[in-house]
Amino acid sequence: MDTKIIKIDNDHIDSTKLKEAVDILKNGGLVAFPTETVYGLGADGLNKDASMKIYAAKGRPSDNPLILHISSMKALDDLTKGDSSLGRKLAQAFWPGPLTLIFNKSEKVPLTTTGGLDTVAVRMPSHPIAYELIRQSGVYVAAPSANTSGRPSPTTAGHVIEDMDGRIDMIIDGGKADIGLESTIVDVTGEIPVILRPGFITLEDIERVTGEAEYDRSLFQKPSTENFKPKAPGMKYRHYAPKGQLTIYEGESRNVIQAINKEAAKKQSEGFKVGIIATDETLSSYENGIIKTIGTRKDEKTIASGLFRLLREFDTEQADYIYSESFYDNPLGQAIMNRLLKAAGYHIEKI
Ligand code: TXA
Ligand code: MG
Repeated sequence: MDTKIIKIDNDHIDSTKLKEAVDILKNGGLVAFPTETVYGLGADGLNKDASMKIYAAKGRPSDNPLILHISSMKALDDLTKGDSSLGRKLAQAFWPGPLTLIFNKSEKVPLTTTGGLDTVAVRMPSHPIAYELIRQSGVYVAAPSANTSGRPSPTTAGHVIEDMDGRIDMIIDGGKADIGLESTIVDVTGEIPVILRPGFITLEDIERVTGEAEYDRSLFQKPSTENFKPKAPGMKYRHYAPKGQLTIYEGESRNVIQAINKEAAKKQSEGFKVGIIATDETLSSYENGIIKTIGTRKDEKTIASGLFRLLREFDTEQADYIYSESFYDNPLGQAIMNRLLKAAGYHIEKI
């Protein structure tokens, strides 16, 4: 299949170009598009054949459900069933934006889209291209991150091209995805909101609206643990993994730098290619290997937005071993470390 790649300016959306993408979605095809979190791979979410194509293009297990992207609150009447008041409260506060809500699903939503679950994930994105694409197509757009299953999520059109060229109908290049980590997922089917995947919208942000909120307990378990049953099925799969072996070092900065330098020197002397995930503050303290800065600790948003890009870059450079600092001590720490720990297969050295 030939994949058409088009560039659209976020600030002045060219309606003729967007119309082409709209028509593909209406006709059951696949379009990758930018969102404020990561790039999505979209198809008509109520069309079984179209959503099956998403699973095929990504190589995604069929029990891993898709998020439906909407452009108006009216969609909730269509897609959900039962009492949705808790979710609506959060939707009022954070939509359009990087928040996905899990509701009880209506009969309209096919089980192929929800991976066989009775619940449905819904999000209204704020990115102007995503929003307009959904609005103009008039369909509920099922869209996982536009990466091959298992690889880091794409934050640029270039990343999508790496994984999806030749497998889908169109890629819209709208520049860099700002946040760089996927949306916060919150289950609102119970009494209090439960975070299934941490993201840019934090537990504290949610508590401010609903008074109470909690993390799903499986978030802090290793997938190898007995009885590991995350409520977001996607959280059980190997994810974001770079080709090289990633190890995270946690401890006082001075000690972390020393330990990484020692290990990097050892592996390099054995003939391996070594990569280091540093920060602007520590970049000059490392001695060996390919040293890259993820961002600055003065602004954790830069770290969130640099993570997936760096993991992909180390793949391109064919690093055999990658060493990273850890990033718990900031408001986005849970979201960043959730992705980094998965990428490392939970390999963490506490020193
Ligand atoms: O920021 C995002 O959310 C991006 C952009 C494109 O919107 N999308 C995204 O989709 O990250 P995906 O498919 O890569 O991740 C969706 C996650 C998976 O872990 C999946 O298991 C979970 O959401 N999920 C979907 N429906 C669910 C449901 N009904 N119950 C629990 N988890 C669900
Ligand atoms: Mg994904």
